[in-house]
Amino acid sequence: MAATGEGVTIYEVGPRDGLQNEPESVATADKVELLGRLASAGLERVEATSFVSPKWIPQLADADALAAELPPGPTYSALVPNQRGYERFRRTPIPVAAFFVSASETHNRRNVNRSVVDHLEAFRPVAERIRADGIGLRAYVSTVCGCPYEGDVPVRTVVEVVRQLQLLGADEISLGDTIGVGTPRQVRELVRTLAAEAPLGRIALHLHDTYGRALANVAAAYEEGVRTFDASLGGLGGCPYAPGASGNVATEDVVDLFETQGIPTGVELDTLVDASAWLEEQVLRRPLPGRVYRARRGARERAS
Ligand code: HMG
Ligand code: MG
Repeated sequence: MAATGEGVTIYEVGPRDGLQNEPESVATADKVELLGRLASAGLERVEATSFVSPKWIPQLADADALAAELPPGPTYSALVPNQRGYERFRRTPIPVAAFFVSASETHNRRNVNRSVVDHLEAFRPVAERIRADGIGLRAYVSTVCGCPYEGDVPVRTVVEVVRQLQLLGADEISLGDTIGVGTPRQVRELVRTLAAEAPLGRIALHLHDTYGRALANVAAAYEEGVRTFDASLGGLGGCPYAPGASGNVATEDVVDLFETQGIPTGVELDTLVDASAWLEEQVLRRPLPGRVYRARRGARERAS
């Protein structure tokens, strides 16, 4: 990984992707504290919550209340799946709405109860309103490296969904390896193919770490020109409608990888480790899996 002097953007998704997957809902006050700690660590992009159906994701049912208490600093986003979600979102100060759709049909149906085409079509007028309202639009494509129900997902299917999202006016498209099955070779091929469709400055990578390949995939995508990487503090996360999916690549691991290669992230690792330690001990009361987080905590404990 040759440093170019140019930094990378770490897009923190733990408060949304992480907490949507916890067995117990976290108290709104603890979410506010978590967001404050992430802001203090220097994270500039943070996905705070989701305006999805509370029947589907009860863990984030407090999105409306949380949005009224966002600590200053980061540019926040929140998931918005449909018109109803946008009506809720529009009453908040959050500047970026994040739509999501899968490359594979079965995952999309399990996740949003619609076919890919119907989901995209239903979102078209919402996207128009988002643009007219001057709100930013991030869009996720899930299952880009494989689907928990269908297995392999052809690159051309991902390309087609990316095209549709561009037509909806997405400012940024985040490619989701929902179940963490991608390999560096596959990620390179995907990024190279997509570079012909969309400027790489608009492409982010959203990797879950089920097979422990996420960090290798981050490095491969960086070498191909991607500069925005989604990550989750301590390695929290998963998709409740993707069985077997584990957490996102840990933010600490991505920050450590880039900073040790001389590539700036703008994130203070110690503050982030403090945030993960607080979340682990005071809120979730279970160990978080992130490797650099665990290593740093172990080193601190041995030194004290
Ligand atoms: P549905 O049941 O088909 O919805 O769900 P519906 O349109 O038929 O509405 C049914 C009821 O839900 C109605 O209420 C609606 O008002 C209400 P009722 O009349 O019965 O009282 N409703 C809502 N309420 C609040 N907020 C809303 C909303 N929409 C409808 N936005 C729906 C369709 C899309 C809503 C549902 O399937 C859903 O919420 N799915 C979300 C699933 C989800 O959040 N998954 C995880 C996030 S995606 C992810 O993790 C992947 C990602 O990280 C990338 C990667 O890793 O690949 C992004
Ligand atoms: Mg995810």
